[in-house]
Amino acid sequence: MAPTASGHGATGYGARITGVGRYVPERVMTNAELERMVDTNDEWIVERTGIHERRIAGPDETSSTLGTRAGLAAIESALIDPATIDLVIAATCTPDGMFPAVATRIQHAVGAGRAGAFDVNAACNGFMSALSTAVQFVAAGTSQRALVVGTETMSRIVDWTDRGTCVLFGDGAGAVIVERSVEGEPGHINALLLRSDGSQADLLWASGPCTPGAPSPSSALGLAREEARIVMDGRSVFRHAVNALVETSMEAVTNAGLTVDDIALCVPHQANRRIITAMADRVGLPMERVYVNVDRYGNTSSATIPIALAEAEADGRLKPGDRVLFAAFGGGLSWSAMVVEWAGIRASRAGLPTGILAARA
Ligand code: ACO
Repeated sequence: MAPTASGHGATGYGARITGVGRYVPERVMTNAELERMVDTNDEWIVERTGIHERRIAGPDETSSTLGTRAGLAAIESALIDPATIDLVIAATCTPDGMFPAVATRIQHAVGAGRAGAFDVNAACNGFMSALSTAVQFVAAGTSQRALVVGTETMSRIVDWTDRGTCVLFGDGAGAVIVERSVEGEPGHINALLLRSDGSQADLLWASGPCTPGAPSPSSALGLAREEARIVMDGRSVFRHAVNALVETSMEAVTNAGLTVDDIALCVPHQANRRIITAMADRVGLPMERVYVNVDRYGNTSSATIPIALAEAEADGRLKPGDRVLFAAFGGGLSWSAMVVEWAGIRASRAGLPTGILAARA
């Protein structure tokens, strides 16, 4: 079904999610380990963020290898042949290199031989931006079947001497398969909103090799090259995050022709438990209907929503026809919300063990 003129409506966009997968690195970094690295303690981290531990990519792992594992799990759960995927979009702010796109490496590694592929960088709002793009391709009929991956190796850009940021982030990847909706079956994107405010860009940013003033590799003979690192005004980001998430979530729910009572599960960006509970409280969602796993993974930036979604599905928290609210916030500043009518994952519906479960083992 085509979107309404205003881009949303009772049924919404003619695209649905038919597969989900996730992968996180094996290495666990606990708060106790961080206590030995910077002047912090478990009590402060848990009280201010809700984070107990996070995963750290191994020396041979990159955003493309993590994303490939998550992508394969999503493909397996959708019971599809990867050769039928015609679009791969990877959301990442920690690519393997400046180019090529992480998405092309994933496209090759998962066996999506005929797919176009590109990356989207919208920091922690990246997955929602990538998913919104895939939804437009699929709803317009330009793409039949898309793989959307959120994948990050945040540990590579964290300043491990800055206690204000290093306790927050972790590595991981999640992925979904997007296909056209089918008449008479559940599964639509009911509403989607993307917003940004570049005037607040300096509140949360990471430098890199192209940052003005940074020594270039060619002029850096004898000089250390500028390393990418995260810089953040945590308190301001917190305030903006809660306001933006509340406002956009309410607007998306209204645009979908629903009320908050219709939302079976909210899967928000996992940056900080306090941000999530403040948002849920103001939106009027009881925490039983909000999925939280920030305690185990920290903030994996564009990977948080698809990782949480895959876990929610594996935990039996989603059933076909459920209305699910996604809401994200990140550097830019940029933020978003989406209301999804859950189609159900083919492997789960068929009672099969899925890649999601395999990846959880
Ligand atoms: N351990 C112990 N003490 C700490 C630590 C730490 N890890 N970090 C900061 N402190 C200290 C500060 O120095 C300060 O001490 P002072 O009072 O003596 O000056 C005190 O704790 C309070 O610091 P605040 O920054 O005011 O603490 P706050 O309650 O705001 O919590 C936090 C900080 C957790 C960073 C919070 O502001 C937050 O979560 N902000 C949002 C961050 C976020 O979500 N960023 C990601 C966005 S997504 C993306 O695009 C990447």
